[in-house]
Amino acid sequence: MSDARARVSDALMDPHNVPAHIAIVMDGNGRWADRQKKPRSFGHKAGQKALQHVVTCCVEWGIQTLSVYAFSTENWRRPNTEVHFIVAMIKTAIETVKQSLIDAGVVLRFCGDLSVFDADLQDAMRQAEADTAYGKRMTLQVMVNYGGRAEIVSAVRRYVAQGGDACALTEADIAAHLYAHTDPDLFIRTGGDIRMSNFMLWQCAYSELYFTDCFWPDFGRDDLIAAIAWYQKRVRRFGGLNP
Ligand code: IPE
Ligand code: IPE
Ligand code: MG
Repeated sequence: MSDARARVSDALMDPHNVPAHIAIVMDGNGRWADRQKKPRSFGHKAGQKALQHVVTCCVEWGIQTLSVYAFSTENWRRPNTEVHFIVAMIKTAIETVKQSLIDAGVVLRFCGDLSVFDADLQDAMRQAEADTAYGKRMTLQVMVNYGGRAEIVSAVRRYVAQGGDACALTEADIAAHLYAHTDPDLFIRTGGDIRMSNFMLWQCAYSELYFTDCFWPDFGRDDLIAAIAWYQKRVRRFGGLNP
């Protein structure tokens, strides 16, 4: 994109009022590939590139947390070849992007039930978390084998396992035991479907929900600016009255 065009689209967004936390359901990789008569794996690879661009923009604009849905607890229902491709891609991506995340000051976290993955992948995830832990600019939460319902069940179980009294359980106790601790201000779903698909159900109670027909591999800087500009026009009441 030319500098002039970048300035025009950037002007749509107020740089002093960006959402602190953006959550994205990165949907549409398969249909993007189908449209080009390519295998679905081609779409997943392109989706990874789109994510790298979005991460760069979010760091540049001072977004504090970016949460992305990479693989759901329901995605195991897909053919084995696709599941294996996605899991292998996550492992390769960790190695290829880790240094650039460190250089950009991004803290990487994996959220979900990681125990189902083989030991090598779990080690790579934990090592990448440790290696990026000192980043000061943004936290990137990658949701893998993640489901919002499973997250709530696991939070309650962990609370009880740590000696918590089930009868005294509060919303704050559940929130403290979730994989992801902050609530998204802006939820974005690409790919044209208007549903949550089990993503951050607890945390999105008061998020602003933005849906776009754009397939994830096509989602870029201008699309993110459009989503943030839309968010900046919302009036958030949280059940109260207009400010
Ligand atoms: C999202 O794209 C990526 C994952 C679920 C892993 P899809 O693979 O769901 O693509 P569509 O929705 O079939 O086009
Ligand atoms: C949600 O997309 C999961 C991810 C983007 C990882 P899906 O493609 O799995 O959602 P549904 O099946 O259309 O609801
Ligand atoms: Mg999909």
